[in-house]
Amino acid sequence: MPQLTQTPVYEADLFSPAALREPFGHYRAMRDLGPVVRLRDPDVYALSRFDDVRDALQAPDALSNAGGVGFSDEFNQPGGPNLIQSDGDRHRRMRSEVIRPLLPAQLKQHRPFLKSLIAERIKSLVGRGPFDAIAEVARFLPTAAISALVGLPEEGRASMLDWAAATFNAVGPRREGSERDFEVLAGWRTYLANLQWESIREGSWARTLQGTIAAGRLSEAEARGAISAYVLPSLDTTILAKGHLLHGLARHPGQWRMLRDDPSLLPGAVIESVRHSSVIRWFSRLARTDYQVEDEVIPAGSRLMLIYASANRDERRFEDPDRFDITRDARAQLAWGSGPHLCGGMHLAKMEMEVMLEALVEHCEVLEAGEPELLTNRGLYGFASLPFELR
Ligand code: HEM
Repeated sequence: MPQLTQTPVYEADLFSPAALREPFGHYRAMRDLGPVVRLRDPDVYALSRFDDVRDALQAPDALSNAGGVGFSDEFNQPGGPNLIQSDGDRHRRMRSEVIRPLLPAQLKQHRPFLKSLIAERIKSLVGRGPFDAIAEVARFLPTAAISALVGLPEEGRASMLDWAAATFNAVGPRREGSERDFEVLAGWRTYLANLQWESIREGSWARTLQGTIAAGRLSEAEARGAISAYVLPSLDTTILAKGHLLHGLARHPGQWRMLRDDPSLLPGAVIESVRHSSVIRWFSRLARTDYQVEDEVIPAGSRLMLIYASANRDERRFEDPDRFDITRDARAQLAWGSGPHLCGGMHLAKMEMEVMLEALVEHCEVLEAGEPELLTNRGLYGFASLPFELR
């Protein structure tokens, strides 16, 4: 029987605006403190080392998603079928519908369309002087991609970015402004509840869900939950990831040159940037049973915080982990999670980032980045704005 040791407490508030802007020093301190670290608010056991986060993601029998993946009761009880907050049979049924259009073979047909959109945008920005890369480049593809792939009607599209940002902010514990996030999310729920199947584009993925309901594979509520699972996690994640990629390359001109000279480095540059910045900071799991990490036993009923962003900077796993290095093999990483809830949109995210990079390599020689403005989103790490110039 393992000894129950005294779990060290990490006193700093990871959800304070300062820590949300500059989290990496906190992660290192937590990794050094021990494999399991207790936080005060929220009251959770945090895992911050690579192997421990990976093992927890791959232990769905012990650690439940249906008990919620956030840090507040409101977030963890969504009041309807929710893909990431489900386990077992419901999770398998909903996931198989959601990922159907997101597999590489299905996505391939959309690549030329997405590439031509972003290439036009990049060409229009070359030599134009300073602009905000988040607004002008990073935000450009995701809504177009999602609208094309999902098939939702025009109405509502303008609010999608607000709904997506509020979702991730609401992952955190209740703090100042949380009320507002839940109000915005109520707007999404109303939109979804009122969505008429006939208003969704014929032949699109969302429209096929009607057939899925008729065949008895999903209930009406689960099908609407599947639309949520497609739309809400797909926007800010890829927007912020593109911001990090642009920033990383502009700040490392040697690596940008290397990439221009050898575009075969391009897929590796994308995944290294995703490792280095890990836009989704964390999610949580609820322990159904006692759960052991090294000598620590986390009691059943506890909430575990899994810090993907820290795992991806774990010096036990990656050599010189804070270094951005496009030649590194960063494939085995946790920015997209692992196990049964592995990100459903990973291939779309990679494709969007790759076509953006291809267009940059083809049309620009010099990338220049100013100081980014850091967000204080309680689920996502990224930039509100990034002054940029393309020449
Ligand atoms: C760089 C961009 C992205 C990152 C870093 C990211 C990261 C993640 C992470 C960490 C998870 C949770 C995994 C877990 O807990 O095991 C997740 C789940 C998910 N993501 Fe993403 N994501 C990204 C883009 C997208 C896109 C573009 C879509 C949709 C088109 C998407 C759809 C989903 C879905 C549906 C889930 C839930 C999967 C499940 O519960 O089975 N994501 N993502």
